[in-house]
Amino acid sequence: MAPSKQDADIVLFPFMAQGHIIPFLALALHLERKTNNTISIVNTPFNIKKLRASLPPHTSVSLLEIPFHASDHGLPPNTENTDVVPYGLVIRLLEASTSMRPAFKLLIQNLMDSQHHRRPLCIIADIFFGWTASVAKEVGAFHVIFGGCGGYGMACYYSLWFHLPHRKGQGDEFLLPDFPEAGRIHKTQLPANIAEADGSDAWSVFQNKNLSEWAKSDGILFNTVREVDSGGLDYFTRKLGLPVWAIGPVVLSTGSRLGGGVRAEACREWLDRKAGNSVLYVCFGSMNTMSGEQMMQLGEALEESGRDFIWVVRPPIGQDINSEFRAEEWLPQGFVGRMQESGRGLILIHWAPQLEILSHKAVSAFLSHCGWNSVLEALTHGVPILGWPMAAEQFFNCKFLEEQLGVCLEVARGKSCEVHHQHIAATIDVAMADHGKGAHMRSQAHRLRGAIADALRDDHTLTGSSIQALRHFLSAAANTPKPRSPSE
Ligand SMILES: *[C@@H]1O[C@H](CO)[C@@H](O)[C@H](O)[C@H]1NC(C)=O
Repeated sequence: MAPSKQDADIVLFPFMAQGHIIPFLALALHLERKTNNTISIVNTPFNIKKLRASLPPHTSVSLLEIPFHASDHGLPPNTENTDVVPYGLVIRLLEASTSMRPAFKLLIQNLMDSQHHRRPLCIIADIFFGWTASVAKEVGAFHVIFGGCGGYGMACYYSLWFHLPHRKGQGDEFLLPDFPEAGRIHKTQLPANIAEADGSDAWSVFQNKNLSEWAKSDGILFNTVREVDSGGLDYFTRKLGLPVWAIGPVVLSTGSRLGGGVRAEACREWLDRKAGNSVLYVCFGSMNTMSGEQMMQLGEALEESGRDFIWVVRPPIGQDINSEFRAEEWLPQGFVGRMQESGRGLILIHWAPQLEILSHKAVSAFLSHCGWNSVLEALTHGVPILGWPMAAEQFFNCKFLEEQLGVCLEVARGKSCEVHHQHIAATIDVAMADHGKGAHMRSQAHRLRGAIADALRDDHTLTGSSIQALRHFLSAAANTPKPRSPSE
């Protein structure tokens, strides 16, 4: 479609981590479907190469490269993504990312100069790229931060970095001084880098400076739904005095996974043979795994529960997560054979067609790490959650789902906690029961599914809140003052 004067050119800039790039890709494709804007994703050469392979055919989304030399920053050569950077060096990758400022500014300036009609330009930047807000100010572009996570989880994360409340009080539990409505947080719910932070370490320094920069932005986008997640959104309105637009859920459609068709077909056939609300789906996201001992216990629990299940397995901690899965070594003895024979369990290695599974009527509950993408996919399909948060803001997502939305039961917490198969099996039982807590969770999940569907509605009777928010954001971006001409 020809550009109209309602449009802006949109440049998306995710942090170099799969967990950040995927929601940005989902957002880019969503914006492509919903608007007339020309859309680009900016990143480093290695990540652009990977992104190119995962773009659907016929997309108009373009990819732009910024040079980046990992070895200039004390990182192993060619490590441009947290997937391949050892955990201890992730902070160095973050610090190194700020070195892209001059190249990013030049790229934006070139884009603005080359636009035939000198249309407004809108930058959508990662939560870790607060520093891009001042670049936008300097060149006269519109700027928003996009949080691929939920409002509540992000508010906890943001508040924790500024206050480090676990360093101040005694005791294992504490309130967030500027977000008390979140309730008490236990120290076992802190991601490792926050638990270890004391205000002067490299993470604290980075987060303090760069999260503060959000205030220079023109607004914040969240991949969430206002009717479901308003507390966290209000937190940011209050803290930053900026518009906060909830435009979710924005998720990648299953079709965009290459080579997924065959496995999706097999899953559907397997699920078609099961009764309604009878199957537990177990998956911890594409970047997480658990300890060897936890995996053993979970295997025993699934067998003991007597329920049908689909389990997506990955090598345990300490192994290369992409290596071959050694079932005879990492799962209880004879487990795979027994599950196949009885037809009770479908074990999938590395990857599953998640949306296909969650949308199937046979699925009753989802044992999940509570990564926000998985949460959105579950809630969109009205599936209650058994939470086992592993990292980052997943702990707060789990807490939110359990305490505020009533759609979740926490099974375990973290990658190193001790778990026991009897406890896991008993919790599965409670969540999948058709009475009591299980029934309550299912009816809450059903209610939320309706609220999410309404947020996305766009017909003559209703313009949903997420559709409205997207329109408000786009019109703010399109009405940003005209950029100065380069000669001025
Ligand atoms: C972001 O963090 C880096 C590393 O700590 C720091 O050098 C930089 O000044 C920060 N950015 C801003 C805009 O303050």
